[in-house]
Amino acid sequence: MSRSNVLWVDKNTLSKDISGKVYIVTGANSGVGLETTRLLVKQGGHVIMACRRPDAAEEAAKSFTGLKGGYEVMKLDLADLQSVRPFVDEFLRKYDKLDALVCNAGLVTFGSEIERTKEGFEMAIGVSYFGHFLLTELLLDVLKKSAPSRMVIVSSVVHAGSKQNRPNVDLDDLNFNTRKFNNFAAYAEAKVAVVLYAMELAKRLEGTGVITVSVHPGWARSNFGGNSLVMRIMRVMMVPLRPFITDSNEEAAQTSLHCLLFDDVPDHSGAYFSQSSVLYRDKECRNGGWPMTSPNPNARNMDTAKKLVNLTYELVGLNK
Ligand SMILES: NC(=O)c1ccc[n+]([C@@H]2O[C@H](COP(=O)([O-])OP(=O)(O)OC[C@H]3O[C@@H](n4cnc5c(N)ncnc54)[C@H](OP(=O)(O)O)[C@@H]3O)[C@@H](O)[C@H]2O)c1
Repeated sequence: MSRSNVLWVDKNTLSKDISGKVYIVTGANSGVGLETTRLLVKQGGHVIMACRRPDAAEEAAKSFTGLKGGYEVMKLDLADLQSVRPFVDEFLRKYDKLDALVCNAGLVTFGSEIERTKEGFEMAIGVSYFGHFLLTELLLDVLKKSAPSRMVIVSSVVHAGSKQNRPNVDLDDLNFNTRKFNNFAAYAEAKVAVVLYAMELAKRLEGTGVITVSVHPGWARSNFGGNSLVMRIMRVMMVPLRPFITDSNEEAAQTSLHCLLFDDVPDHSGAYFSQSSVLYRDKECRNGGWPMTSPNPNARNMDTAKKLVNLTYELVGLNK
């Protein structure tokens, strides 16, 4: 059963033959990433499944048997920047084009202690933003060479917050080195960072034929939150309401698929695209929109976006 107002990719887009096109999807072994991959493979695409657990990806990909396109699993741990460069090197050795990059992987942590990536970034922003930033920047040349091409980065409704509390990136302390750690605040800030990055990169890539967008996929019945106690309790409590407010992973993959394949998306480079979602605290946003305006002014601030990106170059060890 689907919620009544799920946004679905239109039939023409779903019947496009994308044989010969090459995609990278991060976090492709599970949830929204797995279903995004399946939909691309179904239409003939070749997807590089960029995953930190290659065995899990190979296992998940067994379910693609009989679909028109193909896939290859390659190891990528976004919590370790030293894993990003070898991934890109291997990709560039094997492929000379990239039609789209889907920066989908992400997580929220649940321990009381802050978790950090190998480089010391707070884990949620480290994976969703810093890891994807380095990956994207290292792939920009091949994306440009393959233009028209696209980069889709997965954010969350959580970036929007509420009228009383709009999350923002803290440019003086992106990684909670001095502030008191809060896992939900960290996740929200990570998802503001990716909306800002899509916006800034779109501006930088104007005229190149490469477009970038950010996405809220919906409330997916994925493995998000893993087996943490909080998530297990929430899943049990949610059982009666699940069909009315949450989405299957296929439904949650619709927004990314639309952004990857729909003809008019290049007219909206830098924009935020959202599945409908009861989770918006701003009621007027609940129908979602492809694209829609984020209700969070902090996620629309180009000045913050530029400062964030300049800082990130230094933090991930890239020259501008
Ligand atoms: N579920 C929702 O309702 C919801 C709502 C809004 C936004 N989102 C976003 O949607 C995206 C997909 O999440 P999902 O719901 O599909 O959850 P999921 O089933 O838990 O999938 C998350 C994926 O990210 C991967 N990942 C985590 N850390 C990684 C790392 N260090 N390196 C590489 N990959 C890593 C996971 O790999 P492992 O399997 O190895 O852990 C998994 O493949 C995330 O960005 C999430 O923030 C989800």
